[in-house]
Amino acid sequence: MKIAVLPGDGIGTEIVAEAVKVLQALDLKFELETALVGGAAYEAHGHPLPDSTLKLAQQADAVLFGAVGDWKYDKLDRPLRPEQAILGLRKHLGLFANFRPAICYPELVGASTLKPEVISGLDILIIRELTGDIYFGQPRGRRTAVDGHFPGADEAFDTMRYSKPEVERIAHVAFQAARKRNKKVTSVDKANVLETFQFWKDVVTEVHAQYPDVELEHMYVDNAAMQLVRAPKKFDVVVTGNMFGDILSDEASMLTGSIGMLPSASLNAKNQGLYEPSHGSAPDIAGKGVANPLATILSAAMMLRFSLNQPEAAERIETAVKAVLAQGLRTPDIHSDGTTKVGTADMGAAVVKALR
Ligand code: IPM
Ligand code: MG
Repeated sequence: MKIAVLPGDGIGTEIVAEAVKVLQALDLKFELETALVGGAAYEAHGHPLPDSTLKLAQQADAVLFGAVGDWKYDKLDRPLRPEQAILGLRKHLGLFANFRPAICYPELVGASTLKPEVISGLDILIIRELTGDIYFGQPRGRRTAVDGHFPGADEAFDTMRYSKPEVERIAHVAFQAARKRNKKVTSVDKANVLETFQFWKDVVTEVHAQYPDVELEHMYVDNAAMQLVRAPKKFDVVVTGNMFGDILSDEASMLTGSIGMLPSASLNAKNQGLYEPSHGSAPDIAGKGVANPLATILSAAMMLRFSLNQPEAAERIETAVKAVLAQGLRTPDIHSDGTTKVGTADMGAAVVKALR
C-alpha cells in the first residue's frame, strides 16, 4: 500500500503529521512517501504541482493531502498559485467523485452555532462532482466586451458546462452511495435559470430509472442552502456540481460543529483516491499548534476504507476519534466550557493512544 503524503501549506503540515502518526500506529505495512505541494512546492521548485509530485501521486494507491494556499501568493499568475496544485491533482488523476460526509458527533452538538435540536444526530453525505463545471470549463479569461451591458469595457468570463457522461457517472455514484444509507438522493441544481443545470437535472432523472429503490428529489441550490440550516436532517445524500458542492459543503461543515471535523475523499474510476480535510490551510493559525487534526485523521480513515481496502482499520480510527471526543478533549475550534482544550499534537497523540 503506497501512500503519497502531500502536506502542503499552512496548517497542512501540522495536521498531516498527526494523521501519519495515527496511520503508523496501526499494525499495517504502508509505504509512505512525502512530497512538496502548493506554495511550499512553488518556493522550492517554482511550481505548485511539480512533475515529481504529480508522478508520485499517480503511482500511489492513495494520496493523503493537507491543504494549500496563502494570501501571500494571491498576486502570482493563476497557474502558479497554490490552489492550482489541488485542481491539477483532481484533473490529472481524474478524481471526479468527491465525498464530504457531515456527521454531528453527540459530543459536539454544542460546538455548532446552530440549535442542538437542528443538528443532533445529523449524518448526511455531500457528493460533489469535482472535475467539471465552471471550475474547468473552457474558454475562460479576460477580454474586451463586444456586447452585453457595457460594450468596449474590460470583462472576464468563465464557462459552465457538463457533458452527459460526466453527470451520469456522478449520478451513479450518488445512487449507489444512497443504497448503502437511507436510500434518498437530493440532486441540487439551478435548473430554473441555467441550461447546464437543466441538463444536469434531466440526466440525473434518467439515471434514476436504474435505481427504483432510491428516492430522488430535486432542489434548487438557493433553497438547498436554506434547507441545510433549516432542516438538515431531511437530507441523506446530496449530489451536485463542482461549484455548488464547494459552497454547500462549507455550509454543511458548520452543522458538525466545526469545519475542522470534516474529512473528504476524492475518487477516480479506479478507486484511486485523494484524501484531504475539507478545510483550507488557515494561514492565520499556522505554526501555532492549535489546528484541529481530526478532519485529516478521519480522511485517513476514509482512505483505508475506500482505496486501501482496510475497513477494520478505518473503523478503529473512527472509534478512536469518538473516544477522544468522549474524553472531553477539544482543539480551540470545538472547545466549550467543561471540556479540555488541547493543541494539534496532543489531539493526535490522544487518538493514537485511543487506538491501542
Ligand atoms: C475545496 C477548496 C478548493 C475548491 C480550492 C482550494 C481550490 O475550497 O476543496 O473545497 O474550491 O475546490
Ligand atoms: Mg471549498
